[in-house]
Amino acid sequence: DKVYINGQIVNPEDAKVSVFDRGFIFGDGLYEVMVQINGKFFYEKKHLERLQSGLDKINIDFDAALLPNEIARLLKTAQLTDKDCMLYIQITRGVAPRQHSYPSEIKPTVMMYAVPKVLPKINMVNAHVITRKDFRWSRCDIKMTSLLGNVMLNEEAMQHNCYETILHRNGVFTEASHCNVFFVKNGVVYTHKADEYILNGITRIVVIELCNSLGIEIRETAISLSEINTIDEAFLTGTSTQIAAIQQIDDYKIYTGNEKGPVTQRLQEAFLKLK
Ligand code: PDD
Repeated sequence: DKVYINGQIVNPEDAKVSVFDRGFIFGDGLYEVMVQINGKFFYEKKHLERLQSGLDKINIDFDAALLPNEIARLLKTAQLTDKDCMLYIQITRGVAPRQHSYPSEIKPTVMMYAVPKVLPKINMVNAHVITRKDFRWSRCDIKMTSLLGNVMLNEEAMQHNCYETILHRNGVFTEASHCNVFFVKNGVVYTHKADEYILNGITRIVVIELCNSLGIEIRETAISLSEINTIDEAFLTGTSTQIAAIQQIDDYKIYTGNEKGPVTQRLQEAFLKLK
């Protein structure tokens, strides 16, 4: 186990951050989660581009192009080069006396760690989900470390023995607590457009591309709460979830038993071939 902290690679117990770090005080930071599969990070470039775009949105002065070298150093020291693993990257604004506005002289805190993780070839989870009002803020496009809303909403799913909570705002489904959500209706795939109400997941982007290449019609149009009983299939996407079929939404059973819909299955099989 190794942790990368501001250029040093150390044992976890030696990885220290000031209590005045704005990540700790304000949740003023961003993160990424990537997986390495068959010796290669899955869509690394897209993850780092999203990170850079987030940094630019909140004026943290850091060049994400520096990361691939540092990631390679970390993996080497952690003896995970070429191993299936999950990498967590966190960049906070840095350490300064507490004041809300961005301090002018500040150096970002860069932390990363990797843990071995083998993802199942195809996610066999047949997820039960609950629905809740999306009470988070309206800049969900920023992959920030302040995840209290997501944490509270995911905890409710756990309390109901469910895998996820799918969220709705203004009468339409947005995303889930740590996944994006897709619906299938009459052979057409639907997902919320990538605006400020969702995180534009890399897996989401990949699934949209797959739909296009497979000739499956995809619309970035939200499904409304009242349509829920009319959908044929639904699935979740995310870096560690990959593509997970949804079996039941609240009391509405999409499938009984272990079946899954043909579109979900086709996308899962095509997704597998990308790795
Ligand atoms: N979750 N929406 C939210 C709110 C998320 O937190 C995530 C990712 C996604 C899917 O994004 P991607 O396909 O790029 O992983 C959508 C990460 C993995 C997490 O917090 O662990």
